[in-house]
Amino acid sequence: MQHTGIAVVGSGSAVPPTTLTNAHLCQMVDTSEEWIGERTGIHQRHLNDGRSSLTELATKAALEAITMAKLQPMDIDLIILATSTADDMFGSASSIQFALGATRAVAFDLTAACSGFIFGLVTCAQFLQTGTYGTALLIGGDVLSRWVDWSDRRTCILFGDGAGAVVIQSHPVNHLLGFELHSDGSQNKSLSLKYGGTDHELLEGIAVSQGNYKPIDMNGQEVYRFAVRRVPEVLEKTLLRANLTVDDVDWLLLHQANQRIMVAVAERLHIPIHKVISNVARYGNTSAASIPIALDEFVREGKIKTGDVIATSGFGAGLTWGSAIFRWGT
Ligand code: COA
Repeated sequence: MQHTGIAVVGSGSAVPPTTLTNAHLCQMVDTSEEWIGERTGIHQRHLNDGRSSLTELATKAALEAITMAKLQPMDIDLIILATSTADDMFGSASSIQFALGATRAVAFDLTAACSGFIFGLVTCAQFLQTGTYGTALLIGGDVLSRWVDWSDRRTCILFGDGAGAVVIQSHPVNHLLGFELHSDGSQNKSLSLKYGGTDHELLEGIAVSQGNYKPIDMNGQEVYRFAVRRVPEVLEKTLLRANLTVDDVDWLLLHQANQRIMVAVAERLHIPIHKVISNVARYGNTSAASIPIALDEFVREGKIKTGDVIATSGFGAGLTWGSAIFRWGT
């Protein structure tokens, strides 16, 4: 089997136009703009309304990434949609493939909550590095607003909707410098979006469960503790694997859940705050979309330059967490 490297060669992002500010939230639940700002760093989030879909957001982000990579949809061999909120329970990646006209590509969904983009990046890399495929499109997209209890002030302040995408290609030099992925199902109850059905008897003695999903349930303090412990740890391991030190890192790009988590992780790793990529103030926690949206913003603003070393880490429900360190561009 052939073994090559990979390069991340294009990015794109899309968010719905409607914004919900902290001031709006004060009209909905017992909270204050100061409380939300101080505890999370979030000031507004974009919300998808019923007229739009995850597929549309993801397709828009994907087209931008394909254009930046100077490719056509027909050049894509593999599409992975990292999401926990597909429009179709059977998966939405195929609808995106069709919308793009990427008819050569095999497309499937991958669910790892807020770690989805990192898990997806590593999955794409495996297909590319074995030589199975040459060009992959990875989209992280979520519309968690569908599953938030908008009367629960502990969770409704955190989440927003959006999609981000990258194009990854096989490359003679490997720009994926290291990665680590982890899961711990014993802590699943800390953050969940559970199916909740009621029994429906079909015939005597034969019943099925039918229903819907319950809203997001979270123990904020436990998730906070998990993140500030596991994220520095996984980044340190990945740096070691990549034979790098923190001084080699140009950008720290964490899942955008909470500004306090980002600052705490940076402090623990002794990474200066000017290297921390953050846009959580404007988007909130967009789950699998947060890392590629922030990446795309910094690339388009010219801050991230070709060859820059980006240390990324995703963490969230599952519980899942992981890290990938890569060089931007070819
Ligand atoms: N507005 C005002 N008060 C609120 C509030 C809100 N939106 N939400 C909770 N509170 C109250 C609580 O009821 C509690 O009051 P009490 O002391 O009278 O019981 C008090 O604020 C402190 O609550 P606590 O849960 O200890 O707050 P916190 O400092 O841990 O902040 C989070 C809460 C959710 C911001 C924080 O725990 C967090 O960010 N956790 C990580 C969540 C996360 O990132 N999830 C996604 C991971 S992918």
